[in-house]
Amino acid sequence: SRVPVAIVGAGPAGLMLSHLLARVGIESINIDIRSRKEIEETHRAGILEQGSVDMLLDGVSDRVLRDGHRHDGIELGFGGEGHRINFRELVGASAYLYPQTDVFIDLADARERDGGDVRFSVTDVSVDDLLGSPVMRFTDADGVAHEVRADYLVGADGSRSICRQAVPEAERTQYFHEYPFAWFGILAEAPPSSPELIYSRSDDGFALISQRTETIQRMYFQCDPKANVDDYSDDRIWDELSKRVEPNGFTLKTGPVVQKTVLPFRSFVQTPMRYGNMLLAGDAAHTVPPTGAKGLNLALADVKVLAEELEIAIKGKDLSALDRYTERALDRVWKAQHFSYWMTSMLHTHENATVFDNRRQLGELAMVTGSEHGRRYLAEAYTGWPIARKD
Ligand code: DHB
Repeated sequence: SRVPVAIVGAGPAGLMLSHLLARVGIESINIDIRSRKEIEETHRAGILEQGSVDMLLDGVSDRVLRDGHRHDGIELGFGGEGHRINFRELVGASAYLYPQTDVFIDLADARERDGGDVRFSVTDVSVDDLLGSPVMRFTDADGVAHEVRADYLVGADGSRSICRQAVPEAERTQYFHEYPFAWFGILAEAPPSSPELIYSRSDDGFALISQRTETIQRMYFQCDPKANVDDYSDDRIWDELSKRVEPNGFTLKTGPVVQKTVLPFRSFVQTPMRYGNMLLAGDAAHTVPPTGAKGLNLALADVKVLAEELEIAIKGKDLSALDRYTERALDRVWKAQHFSYWMTSMLHTHENATVFDNRRQLGELAMVTGSEHGRRYLAEAYTGWPIARKD
């Protein structure tokens, strides 16, 4: 069969892209090796920029207005107290607590409602002929093999992207940064400990107190990348968390830990985000460390730009549109790379840090929170930048 756009991946990036394309009358197909249930049950970040919320409200679902929570600021804990960054006051914007699994559910429901072609649980995925008319091969959940020809193929297939790997080495550049720590993430049955998120730096490391619902909370603490979740009892987890937030004046409401995972931590970009008639979007092209919750927001911003440029390429037969994609998307990608790296380096402690390193870090935090310019710089980045313009 033949379709204008074939999309490998049916996570938030892939599904938002097919949604945006459908709205301008361009047909597409999404495939994913995971089942819908598996994606729904994968816990990811929980914070949306205003721009990401607006994309959901534009024809996907308005559930975010009912089930999401507007957060007008965050608390930065360090040096014995909390320092509030008031987003509303500083930049007239907010962030929204609305977990990625809910974004996914809304998008999957919207594609179904609008008659989108989305195939979950496929196997044997491969892509070919990327310099000409790309082909996407897969076996569907019923065991039937398919070959789809497309004008354009999009790799929105996450951090272990097969599409990214299909780009010859000589045709791409990869940028990496590794960190000497990871995050231990938990879901706990407890009431919220605070009305807003707490990013807390202590000499024992970093902790983030986030939320999910009135009865389920999401929290993270800095850990060794080789940490094993089985070595952490509930008591040890609450001990690690309180040790990092209590010195800054916060108290945790505790309860049974119902889920625990160690999250990988790295920065990665592959450029260009195009190879022939294949385009990469979201985690397939770049990864950020979780501090600041930019990953999902960046993926949605990518496909917003990509949908605009694909529409021009397909309807206007203007191929330079696809070259513009990398340039426009990377503008935001590198800002988010810097922001995520900066938030990480400002709040995490290093095992072999000197006394100087620790005092300097506190100096940086004092400089940012003690100045309106500093607070506004952080608030602007956290709530999200405008999308780079076409011209
Ligand atoms: C969450 C994760 C983040 O990385 C962050 O910066 C804020 C919130 C979360 O999962 O709730």
